[in-house]
Amino acid sequence: MASIKGQTVEQLGGEGSVLVRQRREHAEMDRLMDRCHLLTDPEEREQTLKEIVQLVFSHAFAEETVLWPLVRRSVPDGEELTARVEEEHQQINDLTSEIERLDPQDPEREEKVRRVFALIRQDIRDEEDQLLPRLQDALGPARLRRLGVAWETVRRSAPTHPHPAVPRRPPGNALLGVPLSAYDRLRDGVRSSTQMVGERAAFASSSGCSAPPQQPPW
Ligand SMILES: [Fe+2]
Ligand SMILES: [Fe+2]
Repeated sequence: MASIKGQTVEQLGGEGSVLVRQRREHAEMDRLMDRCHLLTDPEEREQTLKEIVQLVFSHAFAEETVLWPLVRRSVPDGEELTARVEEEHQQINDLTSEIERLDPQDPEREEKVRRVFALIRQDIRDEEDQLLPRLQDALGPARLRRLGVAWETVRRSAPTHPHPAVPRRPPGNALLGVPLSAYDRLRDGVRSSTQMVGERAAFASSSGCSAPPQQPPW
């Protein structure tokens, strides 16, 4: 079973495939973590760290809500594989919420940032080398593309900060996590609700669906 890392977009099911979207965001996380290591200006570094946190948590929440339940249903060792990445996600949650509580000058915080980056990189490897190739084997390209739209839809309204006490599995994660997402996005102050509505509408028309799916489409 080949890692998704070296495959072509075509092999992964085309541009909209969940595998292509996953790999693209993993590359962005990698780029931001590398940038964070190189930056010396404290303000720029904090801003980059904030971007990493927002990206990682919305990405992971959508995995836990949309992808891993499907992996458990369609892959023979899905239970074991998803339990492993959920454990990594839990550790990333715990460490990041400690980081958010510590002062940026605290040397202990630096150590935790290093550890959390190592965990994120491990999580990416486990997904690209183990879990996602199995999903590729179990689903055809059309389902991978439908799943890509579902994953992206959830990701766009997912929490953007760690919530270690929220369960990693549905339905608990969605019941507790979705209401927190509005609070997270308010904290981020990155976009107003009207902007979000506009973005959602733009996304819905560009992805060819008029509203987020009520029933899982995969
Ligand atoms: Fe991922
Ligand atoms: Fe992940």
